[in-house]
Amino acid sequence: MARGSVKRVCLAYSGGLDTSVILHWLIDRYGCEIVAYTADVGQEEELSGLPEKAKATGAIECVVRDLREEFVRDFVFPAIQGAAVYEGTYLLGTALARPLIAKHQAEVAKQTGCDAVAHGATGKGNDQVRFELTFRALAPELEIIAPWREWDLRSRPDCIAYAQKHDIPVTATLAKPYSIDRNLMHVSYEGGILEDPWRAPDESMFLLTRSPEQAADAPSEIVIAFERGVPVSIDGERLAAAALLQRLNAIAGAHGVGRVDMVENRFVGLKSRGVYETPGGTVLHAAHRAVESITMDREVMHERDRLAPRFAELIYNGFWYSREMDFMRAAIEVSQQNVSGEARIKLFKGAVQVTGRRSPVSLYSASLSSFDEEGGYDQRDAGGFIRLQGLRLSKPGA
Ligand code: ARG
Repeated sequence: MARGSVKRVCLAYSGGLDTSVILHWLIDRYGCEIVAYTADVGQEEELSGLPEKAKATGAIECVVRDLREEFVRDFVFPAIQGAAVYEGTYLLGTALARPLIAKHQAEVAKQTGCDAVAHGATGKGNDQVRFELTFRALAPELEIIAPWREWDLRSRPDCIAYAQKHDIPVTATLAKPYSIDRNLMHVSYEGGILEDPWRAPDESMFLLTRSPEQAADAPSEIVIAFERGVPVSIDGERLAAAALLQRLNAIAGAHGVGRVDMVENRFVGLKSRGVYETPGGTVLHAAHRAVESITMDREVMHERDRLAPRFAELIYNGFWYSREMDFMRAAIEVSQQNVSGEARIKLFKGAVQVTGRRSPVSLYSASLSSFDEEGGYDQRDAGGFIRLQGLRLSKPGA
């Protein structure tokens, strides 16, 4: 795009090196004004002083939005309900936050009179896709600028050199030898020294979990309650969404729960090694399934389970705001209508173990399944049932 083609750009800004350099570069390249926008999704970075810093770098305004409750309530919990796990392993912590961040960015852009949005995601990752598909779905009139795909800076040293040359205020933090993305659901690590998939991560890398070896020596037992598939309390104490996940992260993290180390298939067509810590989310998936096991109709559960890998893929690929996702989420929502009850979970040395489940609307019947009682089940019926099932096995063509 030509210089002057955009007048005011809303930039997803963290205050770190990359987005500080981007802020300056955009002004330089397009001669535009910048509205900096920061979403708090629980990344635990210092947010006070951020507006001043953005303005010192050249922004006309800086908007900070606290999205923590919305993130857990409207993105993390629906993912638990849909049993969303990408490639059988990744619980989607980053993928779930991106559409939310982008939705609010588009809103801020429109409210502040911007004609474009910009982000600091690189040209090789999934995040650029997630941001931009969300912009396309919710604010197609906005121009999209992705500096990493456009400029000739290629690395962190390039960025540092740019910042020094242009007197951009960057707080000198010691560079980590890998890239981190953190929010209330997880921390993800990739790139740098992790690019060798055989190299084990250093223990000092982990932020949310102890190693199972260093975890507490006595187990913890907790009871998690769900209403219609939504987690509502821990040990009888009702908690709002963000507070509940935060509490679980602390408990499960101390027991070394929720670490994953994998090589995943990115949407853009590359394989990538990722390491994740998702302590609370790991516990929620297990507890949720335990409550489902007594409250869900068999066929409904199996249908939902068939949708689950596709649901995970839509989330991973950035299609949160799409017609196929609306369809999928409506189906999942219906599947959760009877999923109310409690699961008791034991946490110990990295393991999550379900030790009990109960529900006032349980479909489990001790008398029907008991070895000791007949109940309403006539064992003689099973003979005919198996004979019919076996018909075509013993007489091909039947
Ligand atoms: N691979 C993960 C995903 O695509 C995480 C991406 C962001 N992580 C990072 N460390 N920069 O969802």
